[in-house]
Amino acid sequence: MTVGILTISDRASAGIYEDHGGPALRKACEGYGWNIGAEAIVPDDIERIRQSVLSFSAQGCGLILTTGGTGVADRDVTPEAIRGIMRVEMPGFGEVMRMKSFEITPNAILSRSLAAIVQSSLVIALPGKPAGAVECLSFVRGAIDHAVKLAMHVPTSC
Ligand code: MTE
Repeated sequence: MTVGILTISDRASAGIYEDHGGPALRKACEGYGWNIGAEAIVPDDIERIRQSVLSFSAQGCGLILTTGGTGVADRDVTPEAIRGIMRVEMPGFGEVMRMKSFEITPNAILSRSLAAIVQSSLVIALPGKPAGAVECLSFVRGAIDHAVKLAMHVPTSC
């Protein structure tokens, strides 16, 4: 599995603070035995997010993880960016991530986390807090291999 990791944050991309979300996801992915094929940090900008996701997909990342921009602040546009380029959304991922995270913190209900198929890649948009991103990834871990396979070959059935 080749993974692309995209940190979406105005402040991290401007160097105002260090990115902790990308490295936390990298460590989790390495723990799952996955290769990291691409990494980037972009601001909360719809076009920049779309360009990066499409570029990671074109580079052969079967799984693309984003962290950040899933909340309700003015600049949180990650779901809108992904929905504008996806083929289909898979609501179950967001449902499970919110439900399981809600048991840890009620604020998890504020996240608009989602998963979608973009080109031939599975894209999972995780919350911005590093621990939250890693937790959410772990909650849906069991469905990722199959979803990536389906994304790679346009599915006719499961
Ligand atoms: N999910 C988990 N598992 N753990 C968390 O700490 N934080 C929440 C939520 N999801 C959190 C979580 C909070 S406080 C917010 S505001 C939303 O994710 C959205 O975060 P984002 O806008 O940085 O993506």
